[in-house]
This record gives sequence, structure tokens and C-alpha cells, in this order.
Amino acid sequence: MPGTLAYTPQVAEATEHIWPKVEGSIPRFEWEMKAPLIAEINRLKRERNAVILGHNYQVPEIFHGVADFKGDSLGLARAARDTDADVIVFCGVHFMAETAKILNPGRTVLIPDPDAGCSLSESITVEDVRLLKQRHPGVPVVTYVNTPASIKAESDICCTSANAVRVVEAAAADAGSDRVIFLPDEYLARNVAAETDVRVIAWHGRCVVHEQFTVDQIRAYREQYPGIEVIAHPECSPEVCEEADFVGSTTGMIGYLDDARSNRVIMVTECSMSDNVQEAHPDLEFVKPCTLCPHMKKITLENTLASLQDLRYEIEIPENVRARALAAVERMLEVGRDD
Ligand code: 13P
Ligand code: SF4
Repeated sequence: MPGTLAYTPQVAEATEHIWPKVEGSIPRFEWEMKAPLIAEINRLKRERNAVILGHNYQVPEIFHGVADFKGDSLGLARAARDTDADVIVFCGVHFMAETAKILNPGRTVLIPDPDAGCSLSESITVEDVRLLKQRHPGVPVVTYVNTPASIKAESDICCTSANAVRVVEAAAADAGSDRVIFLPDEYLARNVAAETDVRVIAWHGRCVVHEQFTVDQIRAYREQYPGIEVIAHPECSPEVCEEADFVGSTTGMIGYLDDARSNRVIMVTECSMSDNVQEAHPDLEFVKPCTLCPHMKKITLENTLASLQDLRYEIEIPENVRARALAAVERMLEVGRDD
């Protein structure tokens, strides 16, 4: 039972290299409860020949403690494609684990909590996509990876926040079209449209985290902290992105920190990002607007351990859907990054 694991000298030794990475965000007494879980997860990973893929929004104990590969959706899709592990545990949300399964039909892909969803994923149905295709015949469908496999299967190509502009331009060029249908994130669609001559037909999905940020909020931070650097995710509204010094995927945002011109930064995105990068940037002060993704936060050390122990919850996708979704995901992987 996870709760009965103790902070023994062996656990202390196995986890001492992790503590310096998380001490800024986890109090010591909590660490001594988390470290036994971390040690057991890492032991079981070896026993099961498993890897853990951890999204940048995971809590620090998962991000630094147990994830073998960390990154944004595109980076983790690539890691999933390239792994030779028998088991992939996805510490992220359901659509990310599905993407790993689309790429790895022969491997066991697990998500610690199958209810870790995404508001964008839930914003569109297969019927909606088919109607859009009927309404715009011959116009290629570009689908953000934040969608279920069934929606990817209806698409010509997928994209992530790291390559949306390149994908839109590639899809339009391949189809000889001056337009694309872009699903389902309205804000990302509008942000992409601002960067390209291709006309973008958008859907009305929104991210529950990023739609909360406002221009007034960003301006208030700038007033309170003159010179602060504002880094935003493109799921924010175009007006918020307009206010930012840099806009990019979660990994793009992290990369930008190396070039930060101020020692004060605000990452306009999910809360855990700043916690996870603080150790690598001790000189930067992160001002935290702190908006949690309720889906990402469903993943815990406890359910990650249970996932490895009981091999649950396994991602399954009907083969006819998976094969069609794979074509769209593979086309996406052929395109490089914007950021
Ligand atoms: P990234 O691909 O930039 O990591 O974004 C995924 C996501 O869900 C952001 O909300
Ligand atoms: Fe989905 Fe938004 Fe959560 Fe990302 S932050 S997983 S887009 S709900």
C-alpha cells in the first residue's frame, strides 16, 4: 500500500539527488511522505521496463521525481514514438496518452487517472468535424493534438502549439488551398491566423486555464513590477498574446527563459511550470498568476504508483480509428517546430 511506505535510509539515499530540485516548492515534512512513493515508482519502472512521460504541467514531485522524459505535447509525442520500453505511463492528460498509443499499438500505454481530460478535447464531436468538412469541401483539416483519437482520425494533419503555423502552411500548400479548417481551439486558431497568410476557419473550443487570463491582469502586473518579462502560451486570447514579450509552447516558454532580459518573469500559463523551472533558473523571480489545470492535477504520485503496480488504466483505441489518426499524427511529426 502506498500509504505504508516509509522514509527509510534507503529511500533517503535513492532520492537525495531529487530533493535539491524540489526544495523550493515542497516543504521538507511533505517531501518525507513523497520520497518513499518516488523511490518505489522508480524501482517498479525498472522491474516493468517502463518509462514515464511527464508533461511540463505536472507537479514538481512527478516532473523531477519520476518522469524519464519531460516536455510539451510535441516533445512527448516524439519520445513516445522513439521509446523501446514495454510500458509507457503517461503523466499528463488523456489525449496525450492516446497520442502515445496511436504511435505504439504494440506497447502498453497507461494513464494513472482516465478522467484527466481537457476542455479543448471535449469541445468538439466527430459529427461537428464531418459537418465542417461538408460545409468546406476540399479545405484541409488541421487538428490540434488536444483532441480525442476519433477527431484526429477525421483530420488531414495534427499540430501542437509548437508547430501550428508550420503545419497550417504545410497543410494549405499540400492541398493547394488558401484556407484550412483549424480545430478546436479558437484562440490558438486566431493566434496562428495572425502569423500566416493562410485563411483559418476556426472552431469555438477554449482552454479552461488559458481563457482566464486577461489584458487588464497582464497590465496590472507590468505596473506592479516594471520591466517584468511576460511569456504566454498561445491558448491565451490574441489580446493577451499581444501583450506578451514571447508566445510559445510550454517547452518554447521554458527555452525562452535562457534569453530573459529581466530577472522577473511571469509565465502566463499553468501554475506548475514556474515551480518546475525555478531550480534551473535560481536568479529568476517568477511572479505566479497561478491557474491550475484541474485535469493535469488529477495525476498524483499515488495513482502513478498504482498505475505501475496494477498496469492501469490502459489506453485502448479501435484499430480503424487508430490507423486513420496515425496518418495525421505522423504528418505532424514530419513538420519541425515553430519555437
Ligand atoms: P504544450 O503542447 O505547449 O505543452 O501545451 C499543451 C497544453 O495542454 C497546454 O495547455
Ligand atoms: Fe487542456 Fe487547458 Fe488543461 Fe492544457 S491546460 S490540458 S489545454 S484544459
